[in-house]
Amino acid sequence: MSEAIVTTSTNKPTSPTAGPPLWLLAELTYECPLHCPYCSNPVQMTARENECDTETWLNVLTQGREMGAVQLGFSGGEPLLRKDLEVLVKHASDLGFYTNLITSGIGLTEKRIKALKEAGLDHIQLSFQAANADANDLIGNKRHSFSQKLHIAKLIKQYDYPMVLNFCLTAQNIDAIDEVLELSQALKGDFVELATVQYYGWAHLNRDHLLPSKDQLERAESKVNVWREQHNSAGPKFIFVTPDYYETRPKACMNGWGSTFLTVTPDGSALPCHSAKILPLTFPNVKEKSLQEIWHDDFSFNKFRGLDWLPKPCQDCDEKEKDFGGCRCQAYMLTGDMHNTDPVCDKSPHHHLLADIINDKNPSKQPLFYRDPKTEIPIAVLDSITT
Ligand code: FES
Repeated sequence: MSEAIVTTSTNKPTSPTAGPPLWLLAELTYECPLHCPYCSNPVQMTARENECDTETWLNVLTQGREMGAVQLGFSGGEPLLRKDLEVLVKHASDLGFYTNLITSGIGLTEKRIKALKEAGLDHIQLSFQAANADANDLIGNKRHSFSQKLHIAKLIKQYDYPMVLNFCLTAQNIDAIDEVLELSQALKGDFVELATVQYYGWAHLNRDHLLPSKDQLERAESKVNVWREQHNSAGPKFIFVTPDYYETRPKACMNGWGSTFLTVTPDGSALPCHSAKILPLTFPNVKEKSLQEIWHDDFSFNKFRGLDWLPKPCQDCDEKEKDFGGCRCQAYMLTGDMHNTDPVCDKSPHHHLLADIINDKNPSKQPLFYRDPKTEIPIAVLDSITT
């Protein structure tokens, strides 16, 4: 992290040397045809009528590119629900962005996949909820979604997009990792994220049900390693992500706050990470301020930029330039104070909180919630989606 932080006499941190936001994430809508209980979207989602209009998005993309952003993710919710997606992709492509569509595939048709190709879309990430129809459709709470995804995966390859497959793994589906490996191979995924869920948004709400045991994780990872050896690097490249809760060092979340990533949410809020809205900070909005002003001058973006703000024990730690104290959202969710060291770190005085969660053998008394943006009420009490 190279930014120098200067604190002015008004105690407003500024960052005159912050580099550009290289990675721009456009969360076009929180609407989604699926209701996965591990969704990382906020539990309190903004209403659709507050979504940015096409002109606002076009303007944000132009500003981002002028500032030096190079990679652009279209995400959500389900970005395909935006009828202007092709217009936004075309504009981004003309600006020179490398564009990535992060999608469930539901709502994608051959006509649309072709139109997106013509608009200049570079890359598609397709999510699956499991590797068989019953579990997939149950976890996403949508019938026939598995067969639609299989169809879309074939179209993605047919239209010659690089394809990343994403499987979110939880206690419910991780034991069927063999099926996931086989399906990924059959679909000819280029990369496959075996993403054991991280606990933000709806996943945090449902954590007690979703968190796999250490045994489950170790079994799954070892099967992936055996697969890699047997296939000698041929076929998809599998990326196995362990949940932070089982680590002893925190991740360098967002590559450091305000260093690389800029997320714009459906209502135009600009955030240093997709979860930051949960923090007790006020974030700016692209409808009111320029991206330049937001990135360089806004209090929220400068608050945790660089290293000077770091608490103990990070301040004296020789790994601080690797992880920047970890994740602010996780520190807040687990300790109640966003200024604390991420308790994932075993040097944190709060690390025991994770051991308490991992070792809690008491069955959760809370129901498992499907993500439901309209009613935000529990619609299922299913704790045994076995595959
Ligand atoms: Fe917000 Fe890590 S997800 S800082």
